[in-house]
Amino acid sequence: MDIQIRDATEADLPAIVDIYNQSIPAGWSTADTKPVTVADRVEWFRKFDPVRRPLWVAEVDGQVVAWAGLTSFYAGRPAYDATAEVSMYIATAYHRRGIGRQLKQWVIEQCPRLGVTTLLSMHFDHNEATRKINESLGFQQVGHLTEIAVVQGHKRGLVISALRIPAQSAPAG
Ligand SMILES: CC(C)(COP(=O)(O)OP(=O)(O)OC[C@H]1O[C@@H](n2cnc3c(N)ncnc32)[C@H](O)[C@@H]1OP(=O)(O)O)[C@@H](O)C(=O)NCCC(=O)NCCS
Repeated sequence: MDIQIRDATEADLPAIVDIYNQSIPAGWSTADTKPVTVADRVEWFRKFDPVRRPLWVAEVDGQVVAWAGLTSFYAGRPAYDATAEVSMYIATAYHRRGIGRQLKQWVIEQCPRLGVTTLLSMHFDHNEATRKINESLGFQQVGHLTEIAVVQGHKRGLVISALRIPAQSAPAG
């Protein structure tokens, strides 16, 4: 499926929140159990930064159908500046059309210019789609915290996967 990816703007926030909320009932992607509002997410949105930790949206025919974002690891401690966590959400109606894999591949390609050399992906251990995408893109599972969350009454484990990305070399001359 043909997608266009661009930096998100605050005008995209209603679509971003709507897509996020669509994932809550399935209970396999987010630890939130109640829908979030646009107001809840304004501060969150403003912490993204196109230069280091962007939030992107993917459009199909001019409609936002997915988003992906990078956040700093370990509350932004400086020693981990080159490490970021990727999160992504696809509108339910657009699942299983290859958008998740395409979007994550695109995020990986942006990492060198963002100074990210370790990309982390954290997901519940029953999130089969994310596991498949990560495996196919070269992520290695580096941790599995079993029974660390309770979602809709079920104990869930968290898988941590990492992808090492070569640093961008300085331009010659
Ligand atoms: C996880 C998610 C991003 C996957 O996006 P997607 O566009 O549906 O995934 P793709 O179409 O690229 O499919 C990738 C693979 O996962 C498989 N897959 C997709 N949904 C699946 C599901 N519900 N169960 C099992 N496998 C699934 C696909 O068949 C494909 O398999 P393949 O490698 O054998 O070809 C999407 O389901 C989503 O937004 N989920 C809610 C949020 C979430 O889980 N985010 C990740 C944690 S931040």
